[in-house]
Amino acid sequence: MKLAITGKGGVGKTTTCALLATAFAKSGHRVLAVDADPNATLASCLAFPDPERITPINEMTDLIEERTGVKPGSSGAVFKLNPRVDDLPDRFAVEHNGIRLLRMGAIKNGGAGCYCPENAFLKNLVTHLFLARRDVLIMDMEAGVEHLGRGTVRAVDWLVVVVEPSRQSTETAKRIELLAHDIGLTRIGVIGNKCRDAAERAFIQAAVAPLPLLGVLPYDDALREAEMAGRPPQATRPEVEREISAIIQQLTATLGQALPA
Ligand SMILES: Nc1ncnc2c1ncn2[C@@H]1O[C@H](COP(=O)(O)OP(=O)(O)OP(=O)(O)O)[C@@H](O)[C@H]1O
Ligand SMILES: [Mg+2]
Repeated sequence: MKLAITGKGGVGKTTTCALLATAFAKSGHRVLAVDADPNATLASCLAFPDPERITPINEMTDLIEERTGVKPGSSGAVFKLNPRVDDLPDRFAVEHNGIRLLRMGAIKNGGAGCYCPENAFLKNLVTHLFLARRDVLIMDMEAGVEHLGRGTVRAVDWLVVVVEPSRQSTETAKRIELLAHDIGLTRIGVIGNKCRDAAERAFIQAAVAPLPLLGVLPYDDALREAEMAGRPPQATRPEVEREISAIIQQLTATLGQALPA
């Protein structure tokens, strides 16, 4: 299963991604976490040692040239649209606490869509990476909607939009929904985060409808404290654990089913 976590800046995408990755790994899935945010923080959030030393794939210029036939940065050159990517996780992913992680790195925006070898390479990583039955690829996206234009997430099974109880974040979710439909994505779910009470939960539910609300995580000081202390976020509160398991159940229930037309 391939998931991408998206949403407005600061709503808790990386935290949610780390909580899900950890829970998937605990329940026996092989997890490949992909940090697709140029301002990469997932490795640090998951407490990988020396996160800055994890080389982003898009900086591996020799590798990209070898696979696409074109040096990154060259414009107008004809490159292979389907470069080989299957060996990348084994060769380049860094592992910590049972989670493998790849950093994608920043892609310069090449206008509507982006036809550069780096983007072709990254898109292919998501599209053609073969996953075994219990493998999960979970991508932490950059904030906002821009990445949807590049099509990196076109091949995910689920686009998960994280929102907090704020109009701005739910409006961003609706914008993401429209753009996701434009690129043919139909499985879109919402996770509410930083919710303090039933009223905030109800606000989110009403604001994102008819998108399915996969779960709601409470505002939890333990998550902020873990972030400040450099510890991975943990479902220390029973309701966090319960919501994360329910979310995972809903996501995995679709495994093996045909995508809706
Ligand atoms: N449920 C929560 N309760 C309390 N604090 C939270 C919760 N979820 C996330 N946070 C805190 O909010 C801050 C932002 O979280 P995070 O980095 O996960 O957001 P993000 O959406 O990935 O941000 P960005 O858009 O910059 O990538 C962090 O300090 C994190 O610890
Ligand atoms: Mg983030």
